[in-house]
Formats: sequence, structure tokens, C-alpha cells
Amino acid sequence: MKITHTINEVKTCVREWKKAGLSIGLVPTMGYLHEGHASLIERARKENDKVIVSDFVNPIQFGPKEDLATYPRDFDADCKLCESLGADLIFNPEPAEMYSDTFHSYVGVNTLSEGLCGKSRPIHFNGVCTVVSKLFNISEADRAYFGQKDAQQLAIVRRMVRDLNYNIEIIGCPIIREEDGLAKSSRNTYLKADEREKATILHKALTKGEEMVRDGEKDAKAVISAVSDMISSEPLAKIDYVDIVDWNELQEVEKIEGPILMAVAVYIGSVRLIDNFIVE
Ligand code: PAJ
Repeated sequence: MKITHTINEVKTCVREWKKAGLSIGLVPTMGYLHEGHASLIERARKENDKVIVSDFVNPIQFGPKEDLATYPRDFDADCKLCESLGADLIFNPEPAEMYSDTFHSYVGVNTLSEGLCGKSRPIHFNGVCTVVSKLFNISEADRAYFGQKDAQQLAIVRRMVRDLNYNIEIIGCPIIREEDGLAKSSRNTYLKADEREKATILHKALTKGEEMVRDGEKDAKAVISAVSDMISSEPLAKIDYVDIVDWNELQEVEKIEGPILMAVAVYIGSVRLIDNFIVE
């Protein structure tokens, strides 16, 4: 596996692979890789001749009060995992390599970025779209792999690709969970022992919500109340949002019909966790 830190090194490899007619799968990550990331890399490995994993904590998607400085990092462990999964190249640039002093261009998706996490993270998705655009152009990938764990991100990237005519296929992959149901996340490492135990409330509450929807409940408010009440019953939990939106436009719905996304963001102590389910 090739370990690279510059855009030129990646482009040199990509040029060779393209000349040989090989397909390329890209897995964008911010590192501190876990089984959730691994599932994307494994899928990319199956579906492409070459696999690129980007490992970059993207500063422009963090707000001023967010955890950029403390975001967990372990590049050596990431390299070992990627190598064991058969990745061909890992790209780990410094921020200055991606954003020079004269960087002025941004990509954004309106409307879809405004609700859910966009409410409390107003610049987040422009930062994501911008870095993902750069990674698509640098890697010239045929396919890129994203987790449903970040469902709004997945929907926004899909829309960006469609709206701006990128020649890349976006593959959405299921949420990988711990045995007790907590969605795997690099941020789970921030949880203290008692918080880690209580964090299962997100999945428990969402499971209840999903059962209601699958049993035919059509009133979004009723499902939102049931899920919110269950989360609020946990004293360590503070709700950022509990929402049901249509899975195409991410607009709030009153009546549940057609594909919906139910998503939550909840603080457990000071750690903000997200989780969701989709009913197609
Ligand atoms: P990061 O949080 O590192 O996640 C990288 C990818 O792994 C995302 O597509 C995310 O949805 C997926 N992922 C994380 N946890 C998962 C889980 N438990 N199950 C399945 N997939 C999971 O998302 C980002 O980084 C960044 O915003 C990025 C797209 C790299 C742009 O900077």
C-alpha cells in the first residue's frame, strides 16, 4: 500500500491506473478508523481494481466551537488497518496541502443543508462538499463510498454529484454498530464509562420509532414524541434534534408516506452523537 501526503503523488498513481484501464474506488474518511470505515473499504475492495482511502481531518467542516483540535487521530493504526483490508493507497495531506493561503472556492448544496445537523452546524456541509469535490477530482474515482451513519451527508453528496454532473457513482453503505446497538463513531472515544453505557439510548429510542413506522403509524409527530420521550428519560441525554424528513428532499413531513429518514442528534454529557433509520 502506498502512503501519500501530497496531491501530486496521488495524481501520479491515478494517471498510471487510468492508463491501464483500472477502476478506482474512493473512501473519504477523517481517520481514527473503526469497523464502520472498514465496511466501506471492504465494499470498495470488492467493487474496484484500485482502492484509495483519504485520511484527512478537514478543518473547514468544523465550526469555531467544535472539536477540530481534539478530534482523535492515529495515522499508524489507520495505515495498518487499510493495508490489512487491501487498500492500494492512503492519502493523508496536511491542511496546507488542501487549502493554500489563496484558496477561495467553495461548493455547497442549498436547502438539503439547512435542516437536521445543518441547524446547529451551519458551515459544516459546505466544508464537506468542498473537500469531497476536491477528493473526487484528485482521485478521479469511478465510485465513492459513504455510510448511512451520516445520512444527511450521504443525501447531500448524492445531490451535489447529480446537480454538478460529477462522473462518479455514490454508494451508500449500512450503519455498523457495537454489540449493544451504539453506532460506531470515532467520537465514541470521548465518552466516559457511564456515558458510554447510557449512549445506547439513541439506538433503543430509534428502534422503537422504527417499529412504530413499520407497524403503520403515519403521524410523524406521534413517532417524534415517542422517540424524544424515551431519549429524555435518560438524565445524561440532551436532545439537539429529533426529526422525520422525506429521504429525497430532507424536508420535515407531517404524514409518513414514501421514503423517510428519522434522524437524531443527542448530547450524552458533552459528546454529540447522531444516529438514524431510513424506511424506504
Ligand atoms: P468520517 O466521520 O471519518 O466518516 C467517513 C465515512 O465513514 C463516512 O461516509 C461515514 O458515514 C462512514 N461511517 C462512519 N461511521 C460509520 C458506521 N458506524 N457505519 C457505517 N459507516 C460509517 O464523514 C466524514 O468522515 C467526513 O465528513 C468526510 C466525508 C470524510 C469529509 O471530510
